[in-house]
Amino acid sequence: MIELQSTRFQKTYYLKAGKGPALMLVHGFAEDHRIWQKQVSFLQHNFTVIVPDLPGSGKSYLPGETMSMDLLAAYLLEILDQEEIQQIQLYGHSMGGYAALAFAEKYASRLLSMGLIHSSAYDDDEEKKINRRKSISLIQSGQTGKEVFLKAMVPNLYGSEAGSTIPERMQEHLTMALEIPSESLVTYYQAMINRPNRFNVLEQLQQPVLFVLGDEDKAVTLASGLDQCYIPQQSKVEIFRNTGHTSMNENPQLLNETLLKFAYDVLELQLT
Ligand code: MLT
Repeated sequence: MIELQSTRFQKTYYLKAGKGPALMLVHGFAEDHRIWQKQVSFLQHNFTVIVPDLPGSGKSYLPGETMSMDLLAAYLLEILDQEEIQQIQLYGHSMGGYAALAFAEKYASRLLSMGLIHSSAYDDDEEKKINRRKSISLIQSGQTGKEVFLKAMVPNLYGSEAGSTIPERMQEHLTMALEIPSESLVTYYQAMINRPNRFNVLEQLQQPVLFVLGDEDKAVTLASGLDQCYIPQQSKVEIFRNTGHTSMNENPQLLNETLLKFAYDVLELQLT
């Protein structure tokens, strides 16, 4: 892992693999860079793949400032600056996509394309906010609060068949999630409660947007993805069957090919 040399984001790290045009993969809530392992192995043959641990996840420490999607976007920008990357194809999983949208809002000139992988430009509705607050109380309740929360949450991020077809990947996911400090989980939830709707960002973005949707996704439903995929000026929509919220593990080959094709098409579009 490479350390970001930053006064704002101290002790934060990202992986850099492969050679070629730059592409960044941003993990979601209760994950770290390892959630993209199968995509990194595949894409690194054709791209320079940058995969951060967001501040508060994996090896990266929480910053002193209040967590927000804007703060995460500023972190991603510092990585690009350190790597001297002018423009990036930025793909985010779920909360990573919320951060990518915040990035697109402020630093659109640094984007070549954006990918919302089981993610959304919607803000939280009231019901979601209430549920998040309940989860925050649970995480903060005693020593086992975080464990109880994550053991219920992680299986929910998978489609109905995953428990019997890929139980070991779900277990790995849970193990990774359990390594994240309770404080980080709470700050991410607060940041997600506070994030605005970013439909206007989708509307204004000139760059192509990829939507990856799972037909069994309970966190970002197929319906909510379809509600917004027509908004960008150029978008591509891929619907994965028998897939929940985590195609990186549930359907890695299809996701790899989808990302590779989209990223290549974006580069070709640039040349024409
Ligand atoms: C994630 O996977 O990052 C979360 O499901 C995002 C969310 O809770 O909205």
